[in-house]
Amino acid sequence: MKVLSVSSEVFPLIKTGGLADVAGALPIALKRFGIETKTLMPGYPAVMKVIRDPVVRLQFDDLLGAPATVLEVEYEGLDILVLDAPAYYDRAGGPYLDQTGKDYADNWRRFAALSLAAAEIAAGLMPDWRPDLVHAHDWQAAMTPVYMRYYPTPELPSVLTIHNMAFQGQFGADIFPGLRLPPHAFSTESIEYYGHIGFLKGGLQTAHAITTVSPTYAEEILTNEFGMGLEGAIASRREVLHGIVNGIDAEVWNPATDPVVHTHYGITTLRNREENRKSIAEFFRLHDDGAPIFSIISRLTWQKGMDVIAATADAIVALGGKLAILGSGDPALEGSLLAAAARHPGRIGVSIGYNEPMSHLMQAGCDAIIIPSRFEPCGLTQLYGLRYGCVPIVARTGGLNDTVIDANHAALAAKVATGIQFSPVTAEGMLQAIRRALHLFADQKVWTQLQKQGMKSDVSWEKSAERYAALYSSLAPKGK
Ligand code: ADP
Ligand code: GLC
Repeated sequence: MKVLSVSSEVFPLIKTGGLADVAGALPIALKRFGIETKTLMPGYPAVMKVIRDPVVRLQFDDLLGAPATVLEVEYEGLDILVLDAPAYYDRAGGPYLDQTGKDYADNWRRFAALSLAAAEIAAGLMPDWRPDLVHAHDWQAAMTPVYMRYYPTPELPSVLTIHNMAFQGQFGADIFPGLRLPPHAFSTESIEYYGHIGFLKGGLQTAHAITTVSPTYAEEILTNEFGMGLEGAIASRREVLHGIVNGIDAEVWNPATDPVVHTHYGITTLRNREENRKSIAEFFRLHDDGAPIFSIISRLTWQKGMDVIAATADAIVALGGKLAILGSGDPALEGSLLAAAARHPGRIGVSIGYNEPMSHLMQAGCDAIIIPSRFEPCGLTQLYGLRYGCVPIVARTGGLNDTVIDANHAALAAKVATGIQFSPVTAEGMLQAIRRALHLFADQKVWTQLQKQGMKSDVSWEKSAERYAALYSSLAPKGK
């Protein structure tokens, strides 16, 4: 079967979060099910800089107002279709924000163009290759099934995956003419959303199937609290909604071979982690004593509960914990975490920024990873933690709920526990979890058992890729 995947981020070409990891790993995991994926993504400068000898596959003179070229290139096992449209993507800032941290004013056009290019490829515009199914990710690609519906293309099945309901791609109705859709597309059955335009909303209405990245989140987004205004739209498509938990690329994330990890280890050589722990202590200027190092590798936002970390940092230190924090995001949160580090030299270390190698080393050297998210569609850092023996301490929500087994009495007795879950995400909830972690850490036998059990968890793509493959076949039986 041939699949066109459409994503605004793909690891290792460009990444701001978990979407990139998933869009980069799923096509590789699907190969063994006979699924051949080409991934369409924007030609950001970071992408254009690293691709070599691309082949021109398609040219648009006027893709929503600017010329564009589709280039095909192989990159680390991925078959990539780069949408090279300098007017849209050749910019000095990031994929979505300019250098001052503001959304690009024409984001709607930049990502509608990506979706329209995908719909044209779906329609067979690219010589010699036409997909059997289209898989679009998040709001940036969510207009793909919308264009597929309104452009006179032969009917092809489409899947839309929601990685985060908090990002919906909402714009004023005034952009409608620029989208070049027929007038009847501005309706509640499609992209219209309370008089505005919603890209994710349109995708939810028009895709043949909808998936989200964990079974718990699939339930949660049907409620007011997590649906973020789209719970009604989701409920109306409930029969085609699937929760499929993410896996991880077990080769990129392997403590036995990871090139940035100083001292490799496996389940029987956990004591080798000690050397990595020393490197972490050095980098974050933490005292090298026996107290556990709790790590945080995260966007610093309210979603991720980082305000709760800032509010409890003093108390965590008072209880005997140390914190190593890597992240960037909300400037106010960055400021409060840096202030906490300044108050507790040797006990709290903060590194502001995005540092992929350090994120690996932290998983390999820290004792635990704290993920106090208010909502978490799937979450990947707990999966990396499980694989690296860095015990996850997580809020009981979304994919965190589905992937970590709480070290309660029964789970410990049955030797199946892999981490700690807590709820609600409040200072008290957080500190209660830290007290439990410190108690478990004090008994090294129990702690090692938790680490080992985590390392034995199946966090690979194996089972989930099979579920995507089954979903694809149910939608495109002839594509087999
Ligand atoms: P989200 O996509 O919501 O941010 P995920 O847990 O799904 O959350 O994915 C986050 C990804 O980004 C993980 O691969 C994590 O290791 C990585 N990450 C987050 N912050 C940083 C950072 N400051 N430096 C390096 N990697 C980071
Ligand atoms: C989003 C979610 C995160 C998920 C990732 C990949 O960024 O916030 O929970 O793991 O997408 O699906």
